[in-house]
Amino acid sequence: MRATDIIMKKRDGGELSREEIAFLIDGYVKGSIPEYQVSSWLMAVFFRGMNFRETADLTELMLRSGKTMNLSGLAGPFVDKHSTGGVGDKVSLVLAPVAAACGIRVPMMSGRALGHTGGTLDKLESIPGYKTGLSEAQFRDFISKDGFAMTGQTSEIVPADKKLYALRDVTATVESVPLITASILSKKVAEGAEALVFDVKSGPGAFMKTVEDAERLANSLVKTGEALGKRIVGVITDMSEPLGFKVGNFLEVEESIDCLRGSGPADLMEVTYRLTAWMLVAGGKAKTVEEGIDACRKAIASGRALQLFEANVARQGGDVKAMYGLYGKHRSAHVLEVRVPRPGFIGAVDAYKIGCAGVYLGVGRNRTEDPVWPDVGFVFERKAGDRVEKGDLACTVYGKDDASVEAARPLIEAAFAWSDAPSAKSPIVIKEITAL
Ligand code: URA
Repeated sequence: MRATDIIMKKRDGGELSREEIAFLIDGYVKGSIPEYQVSSWLMAVFFRGMNFRETADLTELMLRSGKTMNLSGLAGPFVDKHSTGGVGDKVSLVLAPVAAACGIRVPMMSGRALGHTGGTLDKLESIPGYKTGLSEAQFRDFISKDGFAMTGQTSEIVPADKKLYALRDVTATVESVPLITASILSKKVAEGAEALVFDVKSGPGAFMKTVEDAERLANSLVKTGEALGKRIVGVITDMSEPLGFKVGNFLEVEESIDCLRGSGPADLMEVTYRLTAWMLVAGGKAKTVEEGIDACRKAIASGRALQLFEANVARQGGDVKAMYGLYGKHRSAHVLEVRVPRPGFIGAVDAYKIGCAGVYLGVGRNRTEDPVWPDVGFVFERKAGDRVEKGDLACTVYGKDDASVEAARPLIEAAFAWSDAPSAKSPIVIKEITAL
């Protein structure tokens, strides 16, 4: 077999066999096929696409390039959720303990903030002492005790994706539905879940800017995941404006605590309930989404979900007392107040611009090795559709230093659109795709 023939076949729109895909992936991971040939193949896939069979083969071959978490011997059902990334998206922090309180086991492997999107690991690590680099033994132990555990991906999990994703990043081949599907799905299947719920975000603050693109990705994740023998649900949710009222690492921990205390913002709770309820359905703990939502509400009302969250914080080295001590106070001294310039309504709060401004402030990062700050971010007082008077406080911004606040200011000001009439609220849960 020759790499050139495989590249040529895909370039001309052909369907690759499993053996051909394996030849390329194995060769790339072992170093026998050079980056220039893999880059060329990636670009051919970008333009010609892959069918579901090819995508499923690619996913499975990538999965086999590394280690998978061994959850055998533990009682399931093991179900996880993955979000394609957004701004103010702290759903994982609430969903994991709620699902666990309803009898689901959640083996959650999350990522870090990158570009305009936030990262679950960075949020959790803003809790004093909280550690996210768990060993497999700890991951198993914590799941069996609290029903969930939160860790990062180790270098042993899907090493093929580490190399391929880095190469895609510098060859303009990230935005390809089959390549994204194989990348996300291989990592999620490696963590040992039997069923997966995907939150595919759509809108300015999302990776997929239009509902049509989000739908193509959700369909691909569902069909490819099913071909790998998993139960899959794809939920398309809106990411036009940030989710909830707080954006930032510890600020999002605070808002997660609010949710678990039963006082979370409506948009955030709607997305959280819907995704968690689908996890219950996929795991056989509820017959319908409505029944699932009811169980989630009870898990919060009874205090059980909050108890499990606190247990997890303590289990992963976090200081629960210090966390509550910082609640409402963990704010940098470098502050900007954004005031409403004219009476009327807030037309929009652009999630992408807020996410990009957050990188200046120290919420997120542009390069994986850059640090993030726990006590920075945004507290919104009002969001799209709200009536406002001139001079009202729209949001308070906290930055790592004064220069960061000044650098972020133009983007933050541009993120707000003001209007004379209330805009129609678009639905937060746009579409659900599943064969369950
Ligand atoms: N996130 C991933 O993990 N992989 C992609 O390809 C895109 C987003």
